[in-house]
Amino acid sequence: MWMSNSLLVFLGLFSAGLVAADANPDFMSVRDTVAKEYRNQEVETAEKYFHESSFHYHYDGRFATEVLPEEETIPHLSALIRTYLSTMKDIGVETWIMHGTLLSWWWNQKIFPWDNDIDVQISEPSMHFLDEYYNMTEHHFDIPGVEGGRTFQLEINPNYVIRSTKDKLNVIDARWIDTSSGLFIDITAVRKDDEKREHGQPGALMCKDGHRFDELDIFPLRNSHFEDFPVKVPYEYTKLLQEEYGSTAITATSFKGHEFNEETLLWDGPKLVHPFY
Ligand SMILES: *[C@@H]1O[C@H](CO)[C@@H](O)[C@H](O)[C@H]1NC(C)=O
Repeated sequence: MWMSNSLLVFLGLFSAGLVAADANPDFMSVRDTVAKEYRNQEVETAEKYFHESSFHYHYDGRFATEVLPEEETIPHLSALIRTYLSTMKDIGVETWIMHGTLLSWWWNQKIFPWDNDIDVQISEPSMHFLDEYYNMTEHHFDIPGVEGGRTFQLEINPNYVIRSTKDKLNVIDARWIDTSSGLFIDITAVRKDDEKREHGQPGALMCKDGHRFDELDIFPLRNSHFEDFPVKVPYEYTKLLQEEYGSTAITATSFKGHEFNEETLLWDGPKLVHPFY
């Protein structure tokens, strides 16, 4: 298998037993206990934690000085999502794809050829778990065709404990960063929406970026594949995609100058690049 010789570089204290005990926290039951540990309950905003590079908003300037050549972007994104999914599976954290990544999955279970980012979500208890045991851990992977492999860093925004959407500079709760290129995946926590729950919506969920869901839209997660790797997708994926992007996004075979080829199930590149596009 693609990841079979992956080498996870952890500090010695991350023993398997320790991890297993806390893995897979149940979404419904855990938050009540975790909530007591929240620091800064009264704080609603904070300074921006993640700093994107000055040259591109999807790169981390600590690891790169320029964007990847265009033909390298998709292979790097593919390695990012596969190594991320593999790592989350290994450490027992449930994660799923959302937004534009879910839309590209809907078409052919692959990243759109014009994409430059990936969106994944985890539950709020899982974010606490990653904070406690995995912040700033580095994970090395052998990647076919990549000399020396690549190292990825998991970094948790300390402001994830602020649960308010008013904290607009910290809507991204964590990142999975390719330290070879600076390219990263945004990880957002899906949280219980306490206010809506008090007003008669018992399954209300929210993210700090303002997206709102119902538990029944996301759970139970469905198993699928993305970039030839096992992935989980929200239960009501069609409904979620229609709500976010409109019905044409899941039916129109012409998109961003590309045409969906029903035979190869691939997006054929633009035949003509319009100067104003
Ligand atoms: C993760 O580690 C970084 C670097 O030490 C630190 O700045 C950040 O606050 C940490 N995140 C959490 C959630 O503690």
